Amino acid sequence: MHEATPQNHEPHEAGPSRRSVLWTAGAAGAGLGLTGLGTPSAAAAAPQAPAAGPDTAAAPERHGKTMIGVPFEPRGTVRVGIIGLGNRGGSMIDLFLAMPGVRVVALCDPVQDKVAKAAAKVTKAGQPAPAVYTNGDHDFANLCQRTDIDFVYAATPWDWHFEMAKTAMLNGKHVGTECPLALRLDQLWELVDLSERTRRHCLQLENCCYGRNEMRVLRMAHAGLFGDLLHGAGAYVHDLRGLMFDPTYYEGPWRRLWHTRLRGDLYPNHGFGPVANYMDVNRGDRVVRISSFGTPALGLAAYRKQHMPAGDPSWKESYVESDRTISLVQTAKGRVIRLEHDVSTPHPYSRINSLGGTKGLFEDYPERIYLEPDQSNDEWGDFGKYAQWDHWLWKEHANPPGGHGGMDYMLVFRLTQCLRLGLVPDFDVYDAATWSAPLPLSDRSIRAQGAPQEIPDFTRGLWSKARPGMDSDRPAQ
Ligand SMILES: NC(=O)c1ccc[n+]([C@@H]2O[C@H](COP(=O)([O-])OP(=O)(O)OC[C@H]3O[C@@H](n4cnc5c(N)ncnc54)[C@H](O)[C@@H]3O)[C@@H](O)[C@H]2O)c1
Repeated sequence: MHEATPQNHEPHEAGPSRRSVLWTAGAAGAGLGLTGLGTPSAAAAAPQAPAAGPDTAAAPERHGKTMIGVPFEPRGTVRVGIIGLGNRGGSMIDLFLAMPGVRVVALCDPVQDKVAKAAAKVTKAGQPAPAVYTNGDHDFANLCQRTDIDFVYAATPWDWHFEMAKTAMLNGKHVGTECPLALRLDQLWELVDLSERTRRHCLQLENCCYGRNEMRVLRMAHAGLFGDLLHGAGAYVHDLRGLMFDPTYYEGPWRRLWHTRLRGDLYPNHGFGPVANYMDVNRGDRVVRISSFGTPALGLAAYRKQHMPAGDPSWKESYVESDRTISLVQTAKGRVIRLEHDVSTPHPYSRINSLGGTKGLFEDYPERIYLEPDQSNDEWGDFGKYAQWDHWLWKEHANPPGGHGGMDYMLVFRLTQCLRLGLVPDFDVYDAATWSAPLPLSDRSIRAQGAPQEIPDFTRGLWSKARPGMDSDRPAQ
C-alpha cells in the first residue's frame, strides 16, 4: 500500500527536549494572541466573514484582488528559508536540497543542534553554508527580513504558523506552512486578506493531496468515472499516544497539550484536502457548513495510567479533546464529506480517503474500488488496474524518494517547479483556509451539541468558477 505507516508518517528524529518547560508555559503564549484559546467559545469566536463581497470595493484597504489564478514570478533559482527543524522540517530539508534549481539559504530554530545538523546537510549537498537564526522564538522575523529568500517554509508547532505566515508575507515572501495554516477563523481571514494585499502566496503544504491514490482518484473523478459525485470521507486516524508521551520525540509536549484545550478535529487537513479536491471545492463547489460530534476524552488518560511514572509532568494535565471526532460537512451542491480525527486510541493508521458517486465508489485503507460497469455482484475491484489514471507526476517519478510513500517528494517537486517556472500553484490561500477551518468550527460545534457551523467562503464568491487545481497539466519545460 502506498500510504504512510505510523513510523514514516511522523519520522522519528529524536532531538533534545530542553525546551519542553518553555513550551509548557508558552505554547499558547500571550505574544501569539492565543490566550484563552482553550475556552469553550474562544477557538471559533472569530468573525465569520469580511464585510466586503468578492466584487465590491467596500474594504479596499483590508484586502486586495483575488489570488486565484495568480502565477509565481519565474526565477532561475528558488531560494528557500526554513523555520522549524524538528521531525518535519528536519526531514523535508532533504527534499528541498534534492530539487533542481533550489537553494536552502537560511534556517531557523531556537534549538541550535537541530539547526547545526540541518546546516551540515546544506553544505553536504554542495550549497553555500546557510544563514542561521537560533536566537529565541522570534528570530524567524529576522529570517523573513532577508532579501535573498523567495519562499519561507514553516514546520513548527501549530500556534506559530499564523505569525510566521504573516511575517513572511509582510516581508515580501511567498510562504507555505505545515498543517493547519492557523487555528482561528479571524487568523485565517487575516492571512487571506494579507495574501491578497501583499500579492504573496500563502499555502498550506498539504502533502496528502499528492499521494498516488489521491491523485489517481482525483483524475478519475474529473474524467467522470464516478459519475456525479455524492459523498466522500477523509481522516487523520493515527495512534500518536506513544509519541505524544515520549519526552524526546517532539520539541516539548506541545502536541499533547492541545488535548487539554480543544475538543474538535485538531488535524483536518490531511483528510479534507484530497476530498475537497475531488469535489472541486473552491473550483465549482464550496463547503458551506459543518456539524461535529465528539466522544469522551479517555484515551490519553488511560495511556498515561498504564505507561507514565508518578511525578511525570503529564499527571498535571486534564484531557478534554474527544478521542474520536466525527464531522459532516455539506457542500453547496449538496454533497456530504465525513471527516474523522483520532490520535489517542489504539488503531491502525488510516486517512479513510473515500469517494462515491452515481457510478460507484473508491475506498482506501485498504484500497478497493467498485465502479459500474467494471465491477458487479457486490465484489470489489482491483484499484491497481486503474494505473493508467495516474497523475503525470507519478508517471514521471515512479519511485520517489523521501517520506510518506513519496507524496512529500511530489509536493516539494511540484511546488518548486511552480516557483521556478512561474506557474499558478496547485492550491492557494483559499484552499489553505478552507482545509483549516474545521479545526475551530468542529470545536465549536461539539460544544454546541453538534449544531451546524457556517464555513466561511474565503474566496468571496469566486468559488463557483471552474479552474485548474491539483490535476495540473505537465508543463512544457
Ligand atoms: N505533513 C506531514 O506529514 C507532517 C508530518 C509531521 C509533522 N507535521 C507538522 O509539522 C509541524 C512540526 O511538527 P514536528 O513533528 O516536526 O514537531 P517538532 O516538535 O519535532 O518540531 C518543531 C520544531 O519547531 C521548532 N520551533 C518551535 N517554535 C519555534 C519558533 N518560534 N521559531 C522557530 N522554530 C520553532 C522547535 O524547536 C522544533 O525543532 C506541525 O505542524 C506538524 O503537525 C506534518
